[in-house]
Amino acid sequence: MKLIVCKKEKIESLAAAEIIKLVNENPLATLGLATGSSPLGLYQLLINDHKENKTDYSKVKTFNLDEYLGLPDDHYESYKNFMRRNLFDHININLDNTFFPHPEDPEGYSELLHHSKIDLQILGIGSNGHIGFNEPGTPFESKTHIVALAEQTRLDNARFFDSIDDVPTHAVSMGLDDIIQAKKIILLAFGKSKANAIKELVQGEPSTDCPATILQRHPNVTLYVDEDAASLL
Ligand code: F6R
Repeated sequence: MKLIVCKKEKIESLAAAEIIKLVNENPLATLGLATGSSPLGLYQLLINDHKENKTDYSKVKTFNLDEYLGLPDDHYESYKNFMRRNLFDHININLDNTFFPHPEDPEGYSELLHHSKIDLQILGIGSNGHIGFNEPGTPFESKTHIVALAEQTRLDNARFFDSIDDVPTHAVSMGLDDIIQAKKIILLAFGKSKANAIKELVQGEPSTDCPATILQRHPNVTLYVDEDAASLL
């Protein structure tokens, strides 16, 4: 794994530059996307670039990591809604080319991923070391599946809802084995709350206690980490 420690703004511009280069070189590129706060600045830079330079997403395919269960698609905090608000509605992507896991057919999503092959996967990391919504204890061989969200994850995500009671208890997520099939992976981590997870990821043994440690087995991972998230290294 390559570790790059620098300021958030710099990280966002480096990550955006990688995506823009990929899409310019391969207009049929397949991207794996994350929600949450970590990729927001990066998505804004992609939007700015699309407005200025007309980078063309019309043939790009995207696969999101996860979706909450029990929220209607038009709920403000559903991940479909999140992606439209924060990226899709502001670039020329065809919504028919944007995919999310569905609770009624998790296996179908793994198959689709297997056939489509993600060129570049963007990841955040949970304070408990989850990637996607693969919580501690998830087997490394897991495919797309329904997950019960860890209490820590519900607490962390309560900031997006009126109260913790409104945070869904379940989600559907790409599995760990699905995630590491991507050709290249970029993980973004900002802030002190991620420091423990980053220490485990970089210095710990691969273990399902910290699901992100599966990334140690992937040949092409870059961790972009700010100084706070790197503070325990
Ligand atoms: C989001 C996802 C999660 C988040 C993680 C960090 O699609 O799969 O793994 O990346 O929970 O969330 P933030 O970025 O809000 O700290």
